[in-house]
Amino acid sequence: MDASDWNARYDTSELIWKGEPNQFLPLEVADLTPGSAVDLACGEGRNAVWLAKQGWTVTGVDFSSVGVEKGRKLATENGVEATWVVADATSWEPPSAGFDLVAVFYLQLPAVERRASMHTAVRSLAIGGTLVLVGHDLLNLTEGHGGPQDPTFLLTAEDIVDDLTAAEVSLDVELVIEKSERVDRVVATEDGERTAIDTLVRVRRVA
Ligand SMILES: C[S@@+](CC[C@H](N)C(=O)[O-])C[C@H]1O[C@@H](n2cnc3c(N)ncnc32)[C@H](O)[C@@H]1O
Repeated sequence: MDASDWNARYDTSELIWKGEPNQFLPLEVADLTPGSAVDLACGEGRNAVWLAKQGWTVTGVDFSSVGVEKGRKLATENGVEATWVVADATSWEPPSAGFDLVAVFYLQLPAVERRASMHTAVRSLAIGGTLVLVGHDLLNLTEGHGGPQDPTFLLTAEDIVDDLTAAEVSLDVELVIEKSERVDRVVATEDGERTAIDTLVRVRRVA
């Protein structure tokens, strides 16, 4: 889906992803001191707004202008401020100071673009900063609930670690992989609870 497809999808009065953060985000940032954060592919801003409410100074980036406007509105409704940027995650130039936290949740891209987006994510990390990525795992296609049904847009923890290693070499930085795993996400449906299978990767930049 390109930006105009996402604009069309977000062109509703309701929030598609609802206003609550993804269930893994609070757990993954619980041990971090709020500082600067970027939410790459922020969509309608649920995670960016939640981070701002926890005291993070947040930038939300997405190539959907409609999504970004909904994020801006969600922030206002929640009484918090954030910086909102309409940009492509595969080519966005982050500020040189970098961010203490880079969040990438359910950015669904084919392999070449995914690798470019991981390059942007690593470039966005300040030294000492943490990157948290959550995405739909390839195994979800056959054993999990919902998510994209085209394997082109699914990933594995190994794919992300490979992408991050390539970015580490090309940007001459040093990363420590803290988590790289499959995680189950409980999804409430009309037919009861279902389990979706996600990839979760958490990385710290040490140099
Ligand atoms: C499934 S949504 C997830 C949104 C948000 N991260 C969340 O968890 O609520 C995927 C988002 O990725 C964005 N996106 C897809 N490709 C992108 C790209 N190349 N650059 C920036 N945003 C992109 C879409 O516009 C959409 O908002």
